[in-house]
Amino acid sequence: MQKKEWAEQIKQFQNGPSQELKKKALQTRLLSYGRGVFLRGLIEFSNYCKNNCYYCGIRAGNHHVCRYRLTQQDILNTCKKGHALGFRTFVLQSGEDPWFDDQKICSIISQIKEMYPDCAITLSIGEKSKETYRAFFAAGADRFLLRHETADATHYRKLHPDVMSLENRKKCLYDLREIGFQVGAGFMVGSPFQTIETLAADMKFLEELQPHMVGLGPFLPHKETPFKDFPPGSLNLTLTMLCLVRIALPNVLLPATTALATLSEQGRALGLACGANVIMPNLSPPEVRGSYSLYDNKKCTGNEAAEEIALLQKEVENDGFFLDFSRGDSRVH
Ligand code: 5AD
Repeated sequence: MQKKEWAEQIKQFQNGPSQELKKKALQTRLLSYGRGVFLRGLIEFSNYCKNNCYYCGIRAGNHHVCRYRLTQQDILNTCKKGHALGFRTFVLQSGEDPWFDDQKICSIISQIKEMYPDCAITLSIGEKSKETYRAFFAAGADRFLLRHETADATHYRKLHPDVMSLENRKKCLYDLREIGFQVGAGFMVGSPFQTIETLAADMKFLEELQPHMVGLGPFLPHKETPFKDFPPGSLNLTLTMLCLVRIALPNVLLPATTALATLSEQGRALGLACGANVIMPNLSPPEVRGSYSLYDNKKCTGNEAAEEIALLQKEVENDGFFLDFSRGDSRVH
């Protein structure tokens, strides 16, 4: 679709998806993935970050964060617990933390793979060289999440300091794709200075990249960032964007994000009704969860993971879905 047509669609549903749009998104998801909801165990292993993204609570310039790094042993223990609970995908996420050099990351990947060859490993650790991405893939990583954040270069510069560029972000995504990763792009809805045009550019970019996964949630302000006074993204527009992404990319893996669940009590259920088919419970040790705060009031129950799963199971069953504990690979080729 042309960018102009995307803009028209987004505008039409900017106050929320119609019943019809939701129905189409749900139908699309039922055809590609049925009623299963894939689970990913999220392990936030370091909140150190060298970047200074204006929206993000763990930006280098925030000196109020209590910084932590999990040890390799902590990470493996977390996987062990997750595996016992039935998780078959682990998402290793961190800020861009140079202390975890290529060798350390590769060693973590290969150890997890050795212990759990039946599991998929997703990395979400930011921009690296193609060579480094190759090394991660060779070590056994399967997937990589790197939200593009916005596909409009001018908007990108308003969200990030000059050392970061949309051009490099895109290059990373194409490199990852070429290497053979299942790749996840994505963006926040309602980030400061976003317009219908920049959202239309996001849709165009996703069509072009054809990612395996799309991470999409509302912007939520964090009090220790330059964007502290901007309003949160709209629930309804987020739901519209979920519907549009599901319909445009029928086989994509689409999480109902933590940010969406933080914005609204019904966020997760509404996300599932709009085509989302993935949930990423937090497996990080409870004592560090509070420190990985990208935005204020991030939903983290402090529940033991096992309780969390039982509750989730009930919740998704109420919504007409079931938890699917398989690896849940993308059907995008
Ligand atoms: N609100 C919502 N999402 C955020 N992220 C970072 N900061 C915020 C925020 N304030 C998202 C970014 C990043 C992902 C890990 O979290 O899109 O890619």
